[in-house]
Formats: sequence, C-alpha cells, structure tokens
Amino acid sequence: MNAISELGIHAKPKTKQANCAKHGAFEAKCFIGSIWSKCPACEAERSAAEAREREAREREARRQEWQRKVGEAGIPERFRNRTIESYVVETEAQAKALQFASSYADRFDDVLATGRSALFIGSPGTGKTHLSVGIGLRIMHRDNRTVLFTTALRAIRRVKDTWGRSSAESESEAIAALVFPDLLIIDEVGVQFGSEAEKLILFDVLNERYAQRRPTLLLSNLTLDGVKSYLGERVFDRLREDGGEVVVFDWPSYRGRKP
Ligand SMILES: Nc1ncnc2c1ncn2[C@@H]1O[C@H](COP(=O)(O)OP(=O)(O)OP(=O)(O)O)[C@@H](O)[C@H]1O
Ligand SMILES: [Mg+2]
Ligand SMILES: [Zn+2]
Repeated sequence: MNAISELGIHAKPKTKQANCAKHGAFEAKCFIGSIWSKCPACEAERSAAEAREREAREREARRQEWQRKVGEAGIPERFRNRTIESYVVETEAQAKALQFASSYADRFDDVLATGRSALFIGSPGTGKTHLSVGIGLRIMHRDNRTVLFTTALRAIRRVKDTWGRSSAESESEAIAALVFPDLLIIDEVGVQFGSEAEKLILFDVLNERYAQRRPTLLLSNLTLDGVKSYLGERVFDRLREDGGEVVVFDWPSYRGRKP
C-alpha cells in the first residue's frame, strides 16, 4: 500500500459531471478522499459577495471613526431635533422648500453622483437652518452618510488656526476634514464680510469638494447677488454647475412662536 492512497489523496484528481441548481452542469473534481469541488460560478459569486461585504465593513468603520470624532456632525444642541417631519407648512412657498429638502435627502445618491449643491437664502427665522439640519439628520441616520454642519466663520477659523506655529493640525488636514463628509452644510455665509484670505479658504474647500463631486449646502441671509459677491464669481459658478439650486425663504419669521 502506498502512502498517498493511505491519506486518501488521489494521484490524479477524479472528475465527474455535476449539476448546480443555479448554474447548470459543471465538472467536479476530487483531489482528496471524497471531497468534491463545488460549482465554480457559485464559488465566484460567493467570493465577490465577501469582497463587497468587506468593502462595506471598511467603509462603515471609516464612517464610525469619523462620526466618533465629530459627534453629532457639529449640529448645535438646540437643532438636534429639527427634522424634515417637524417642519410646519402653512404656505405654498414653505411647501416647496420642504419638498426640496425632502427630495434632496431622499435622492441623496443622485445628489452625490452629480455633486449637486444648493443654496438656501432668505430672511431670518424662516427655517433655513432647520431644514438643512433635517436633511443632514435624515441622511446620517437613515443612510449612514457622513455630514458636517458648520458656519462659514467656524470653517474659516479652523483653517486659519492651523497657521499658528503651535497648531497640532496642518492646514491641509483642516481642509481635508471639511472635504471628507458626504454633505457639508455651511451656515451663516456672509455674516462677516470675507477678507481675501477668507475667501481663499472657502474657495479651497468648495473647489476641492467640487472636484470630488461632494455636495455642499450653503445658507445665507444675503440676496443671491450678495452671496455671489461674498463668495466670488469662481466659487459661485462651481455651485451653480451640475444643477445647483437656489431655494428662497421669504416669509415671516417663525421665531417667537410657540414651538
Ligand atoms: N416651518 C417651520 N416649522 C417648524 N419650526 C420652524 C419652522 N420655521 C422655523 N422654525 C423654527 O424656528 C426657529 C428659527 O428657524 P431657523 O433657525 O431654521 O431659521 P433660519 O432661516 O436659519 O434663520 P437665520 O437666517 O436667522 O439663521 C428654529 O427653532 C426652527 O426650528
Ligand atoms: Mg439659521
Ligand atoms: Zn452554481
């Protein structure tokens, strides 16, 4: 008796015709004992599915790591319960704003595919911050998207702070943090007139997001022309590309009402 057959290893693999319920006939091989190879098409499907799962797990880990760092996406405490559902509609214009927010969130995959940014402009207390937070919360909690809510001043300050010699963060890291999230919401655009250096920072961030097709929501009390001159023509043009939309909030303030 030779050693190979004692172990059950066949010197030459045995073959037989086998059938897969899904993929039909295939040739099965047996190298050892009575262990037959399975359908190669099924095996390929399984390993592709495993690769997809691994990829999804890695993406989820990156998202969680990011979320751990920024907490509730920078959304101010008092806005954390401002949802799309809790936005009260009394006029047609408000209904349109709500409809925009709702479909922006619900079609966020399309928004990402095109990098479609949007601009909410109008008078105080009309719900620009409320609806933008509502969009952020929905895509964050339902679709596990990464969202960062900030104000123009905070975003600019974060980058400027890296210019000091003792800064732990580099300028490019600060900009990368603003470019990373799937959705960046920049509130209070135009609150303080931007210096050239500030414009340049916003330009860098928006330009990089534009290059990577990452959408940005900008909120402002300025008119459209005001936003244009605040951001500068170059940035503004990038926002308008890929069908960026402007939603005008021009009704009386909701502030001071009973919540
Ligand atoms: N239609 C609405 N339904 C329910 N709550 C609303 C509505 N509009 C505004 N609010 C609430 O009123 C307050 C003011 O709204 P918000 O801060 O979103 O206004 P804004 O347009 O961002 O104002 P500003 O330009 O001054 O920043 C918030 O507490 C918000 O939740
Ligand atoms: Mg606001
Ligand atoms: Zn098969």
